[in-house]
Amino acid sequence: HNSGDIAPALLAHYDAHARTLPWRTPPGQGFANPYHVWLSEIMLQQTTVAAVGTYFHTFTQIWPDFAALAAADDADVMAAWAGLGYYARARNLLKCARVVVVEHAGRLPETEAELLKLPGIGPYTAAAIAAIAFGQRAVVVDANVERVVSRLFAIAPPLPQSKPLIRDAMDSITPKGRAGDFAQAMMDLGAGICSVRAPSCQLCPLAFACDAKRLGNPEIYPAKTPK
Ligand code: ADE
Repeated sequence: HNSGDIAPALLAHYDAHARTLPWRTPPGQGFANPYHVWLSEIMLQQTTVAAVGTYFHTFTQIWPDFAALAAADDADVMAAWAGLGYYARARNLLKCARVVVVEHAGRLPETEAELLKLPGIGPYTAAAIAAIAFGQRAVVVDANVERVVSRLFAIAPPLPQSKPLIRDAMDSITPKGRAGDFAQAMMDLGAGICSVRAPSCQLCPLAFACDAKRLGNPEIYPAKTPK
């Protein structure tokens, strides 16, 4: 195989097995609502998909778009956030909504560079929004993607030194079209089949391309520096 075989195989698997999540559109069916993508990505920082579900629902019911959230009382937003933790995220969420309304006419900018300037949006979130909400070819790397890519390429150096290698490897397999679906398919793979302790290689659509599987030791990746 070559690395060009990876995206088609993963996207075909995603078309059949994508998780249905409230902020997603079904695979191949255009782009999700940017407000939903942004809100979910902020909530998912340091919080699991399962824990985010009800909060996402509550927020979108009360504040259905950037304009509504920007006009909210700070105390109401902080109260609705209670339980999600990392309260700086909620403060930045409100700041960001207000900047989007005042400086961008209520719509998120579409490029990674512009997104990065907004409160609470770092490199991962900027890439995720650009790809998932706007269809841009961005290289999206979170902790699950780091693990999947480390295994696919049997990347030997430990984290965090391996981060640039992992990013380059993800860049080399990210397709021009459907970069958002590809990123989310990699995240789903990491959240399910390519688990930390016991990866289910028999079920993996990328087993044919996986160097760690070939070496027989997928669970040792990503390598960690001895403590
Ligand atoms: N974790 C963070 N963003 C995600 C997404 N869009 N899909 C699945 N898991 C995620």
